[in-house]
Amino acid sequence: MLAAYAARQDADDPLSALEVGERPEPEAPDGWTVVDVRATSLNHHDLWSLRGVGLPEDRLPMILGCDAAGVDEDGHEVVVHSVVASDGWAGDETLDPKRTLLSELHPGTLAERVAVPRRNLVPKPTALSFEEAACLPTAWLTAYRMLFVRGGVQPGQTVLVQGAGGGVASALIALARQAGLRVWVTSRDEAKRAKALELGAHEAFETGARLPERVDAVMETVGEATWKHSLRALKPGGTLVVSGSTSGGAPSAELQRVFFLQLSVIGSTMGTRDELERVARLCEATGLRPQIDRVLPLSEAREGLAAMAEGDVFGKIVFSP
Ligand SMILES: NC(=O)c1ccc[n+]([C@@H]2O[C@H](COP(=O)([O-])OP(=O)(O)OC[C@H]3O[C@@H](n4cnc5c(N)ncnc54)[C@H](OP(=O)(O)O)[C@@H]3O)[C@@H](O)[C@H]2O)c1
Repeated sequence: MLAAYAARQDADDPLSALEVGERPEPEAPDGWTVVDVRATSLNHHDLWSLRGVGLPEDRLPMILGCDAAGVDEDGHEVVVHSVVASDGWAGDETLDPKRTLLSELHPGTLAERVAVPRRNLVPKPTALSFEEAACLPTAWLTAYRMLFVRGGVQPGQTVLVQGAGGGVASALIALARQAGLRVWVTSRDEAKRAKALELGAHEAFETGARLPERVDAVMETVGEATWKHSLRALKPGGTLVVSGSTSGGAPSAELQRVFFLQLSVIGSTMGTRDELERVARLCEATGLRPQIDRVLPLSEAREGLAAMAEGDVFGKIVFSP
């Protein structure tokens, strides 16, 4: 079957590690099933894998991809939850120290078919296209958990989303607006700031710009480049939720600011299967839909990954096998 996979790893030139070609059909052990992938979406995670971050070299070649929507062996339309818990684990899968995401230990979703544990299947709402549903398992699930589970934001509060153009960031904007928050965003790019306003942000600022007032919560996926700004943007008692560090993971911790202003810095990672089901229902109930930047055939995966590496994306890049 056709798949996009990491054949090598290259920290500086991740695209050189990518191959798009034939891979063996997936095998489903007991308790697993094979999903016929109708749409799959790209995440920064796939670039990290090609760079050699989070994917040990001895697991190569590895099919990339965490996100898929498709049809299971019984003919049901499904969305795939990417967090694979270890055998016997019960409860929040994201707290399992031995959890992996598809494409870390087991072959991923940038393929015509993928094997997944049956418990990882979530019904696809009929109102969502396969392309829309394929955006939910990583970016939208992560954004949902950051805002509502870990961040505990309330309607009427002001939230700042750093780096408007990203897959997670665009989901944060849409979900926060839907939930009745005042949504402020930053982006390095004027066109992305304009798109963020169209998507529902109330105000869009240049990255690092002084804000008119301090905010209740900040959603961080950018890391080093925006960390200081994020901490300075918060009201006393405010909350910073971080789930990514695209621009680097070792900023100054600003400890005096954290303790003196009694800020909460909270980590967040992916979400549970049940939270994914709630995200899907939320989209169905509200009419909210993921922002899709472009849909490409899987055979053109290289073009999609190159756009993501260059930051030339607003929302999600989707592939149809
Ligand atoms: N913990 C988890 O479970 C989890 C889940 C999903 C994602 N993540 C992580 O979160 C990050 C974002 O993921 P994604 O898939 O949304 O990636 P993406 O679509 O590639 O978005 C990255 C965004 O970050 C901003 N950015 C990048 N470099 C920047 C810089 N130097 N200065 C300012 N802004 C910068 C850009 O915003 P502008 O161009 O608009 O400025 C860009 O749109 C990744 O690091 C990913 O690994 C973690």
